Amino acid sequence: MKIFIDTADVAEIRDAAAMGVLDGVTTNPSLVAKVGRSYREVIEEICEIVDGPISAEVLATDLAGMLKEARDIAKWHRNVVVKIPLIADGLKAVRVLASEGIKTNVTLCFSAPQGMLAAKAGATYISPFLGRIDDISWDGMELIAQLRTIYDNYGLTTEILAASIRHPKHVVDAAMIGADVGTMPHSVILQLLKHPLTDIGLAKFLADAAKIPKS
Ligand code: E4P
Repeated sequence: MKIFIDTADVAEIRDAAAMGVLDGVTTNPSLVAKVGRSYREVIEEICEIVDGPISAEVLATDLAGMLKEARDIAKWHRNVVVKIPLIADGLKAVRVLASEGIKTNVTLCFSAPQGMLAAKAGATYISPFLGRIDDISWDGMELIAQLRTIYDNYGLTTEILAASIRHPKHVVDAAMIGADVGTMPHSVILQLLKHPLTDIGLAKFLADAAKIPKS
């Protein structure tokens, strides 16, 4: 499974990229609002750090507005993927953008039928928000499994981008199901790395190394 980081904080992106684990980046308006910089400036800096798909979201909600913004955003950098909300005009925009060769990430997917329509419209990625589904006591992972089965049944090539990931179990379960991508906060990437026995083992090695006679 490809690993994307879900943030607009370039320090976090630099840190994860330096570990060699990053395949791409997703952002959304809420994440960009937190860093207090313009959307374009942040995305252009991210594109200098990571050579992979970088999602930037349109703010318009009508077809003409989304197409105008999407065509503009797509010019920011060759790796930019335009994030489009899963609404009727959004699907219409995805269809047109696909015909123009502009990659899209259809966001705010909360059900299998929504995901089917996005794939039919020509989405490059579909973003099921599994954490937000868990938050309302439904099963977000069930949606990932449904999308995997449906896309495979019909040879739909839209990539499943498991989003709204909250913890390492989400990552492992989504990978076991066969999600193509998982996007997660920097904190979850660090959690993936951590194991108490690694820390205990390293401390013991270092303590024992101190007892080795110097040559
Ligand atoms: C994905 O592209 C979204 O930006 C993100 O995963 C949403 O996550 P949240 O539910 O933690 O805000």
